[in-house]
Amino acid sequence: MKQTPQQALCSWFERHARDLPWRRRPTPYRVLVSEIMLQQTRVEAVRDKYVAFLKRFPTVRALAAAPVEQVLQAWSGLGYYRRARMLQAAAGQVVSLHGGRVPRDRTSLLALPGIGRCTAGAILSIAFNQIEPIVDGNIERVLARMHRIARPKQGPGVWKLADQWVWQGAQHGLAPSSLNQSLMELGATVCTPRNPRCEACPCAASCAAFKAGSVARYPALVACKRKQRLRYLVLAVRDGAGRVLMQRRDEDDNSSLLPAGLWELPHAPWAEDQPPPLSQVCGQTGRIETMGEPVTVRHGIMHYDVQLAVQAAVVAGKARGKWFTLRAAEKAAIASATRKALAVYRR
Ligand code: ADE
Repeated sequence: MKQTPQQALCSWFERHARDLPWRRRPTPYRVLVSEIMLQQTRVEAVRDKYVAFLKRFPTVRALAAAPVEQVLQAWSGLGYYRRARMLQAAAGQVVSLHGGRVPRDRTSLLALPGIGRCTAGAILSIAFNQIEPIVDGNIERVLARMHRIARPKQGPGVWKLADQWVWQGAQHGLAPSSLNQSLMELGATVCTPRNPRCEACPCAASCAAFKAGSVARYPALVACKRKQRLRYLVLAVRDGAGRVLMQRRDEDDNSSLLPAGLWELPHAPWAEDQPPPLSQVCGQTGRIETMGEPVTVRHGIMHYDVQLAVQAAVVAGKARGKWFTLRAAEKAAIASATRKALAVYRR
């Protein structure tokens, strides 16, 4: 008998699924952590961070009780640090409102900080094997191609299709966890945005775009905005022992693109095409003497293309901030941009 697309995809998934750490023991807490980490972040970036994070906070209670700086430190490099705070707040509510058990119904999950429809669907289907749809970027593209929907964002259509996908699959005895994860996997490894490998796709026979020979037209490309350029002067200030000066902004100080609450090097934005006067950055550090020319590094943050002009300096008076050895600085709660700037300092 002819296989349904769900059967074809799930049996492909059994053979081709990547070995990802969150797939090994998908307890509700572990799925909660992985799904929040995977929001807006690539699988490869999440992989190792996820394992280390769970070692440090093995239970929802451990996470809820940890000092926020430790959570930010374990999140270091993943970006979008608000997610780390929300994850910890969600853990707190799981403990205080649900007796330490991640809730297994959609309404309670959606009431937790940082959990939207997609993350709730992932937790319900992957951790609890409930028949719940997910639409993330990968699934949206796969379904848009299978059903030739040019603009999937313009309506509820894709959520309806994702819902049908799990319900029809479940009627054939397939697990919601596999039904959803196999769609994500197909999008991530075969049905990719550019150069999809249709010859390797288990669903080609039921893909409307493939049959019409127009896979590249679905979903239609949306013109993406050019990233805005921003420049910062960043000071790598040393003391006599070679330690580096770092500072931390108050939680409500949004004077920089870098998230407040993390350790950072003193920095200030360029105005128009001019670097800020050294005194403006010095104001944050005490009197300094610069050494050599600044070295420029680039870093993407959200929709900005950021250039950091990293200026080495030594301190001439009393410094404001905290001195870190380079090793300690690299292990502290820092953003990826700060890590890049510190790498210049290492040279
Ligand atoms: N992206 C979001 N959730 C995912 C998951 N569970 N597996 C792989 N990629 C994902």
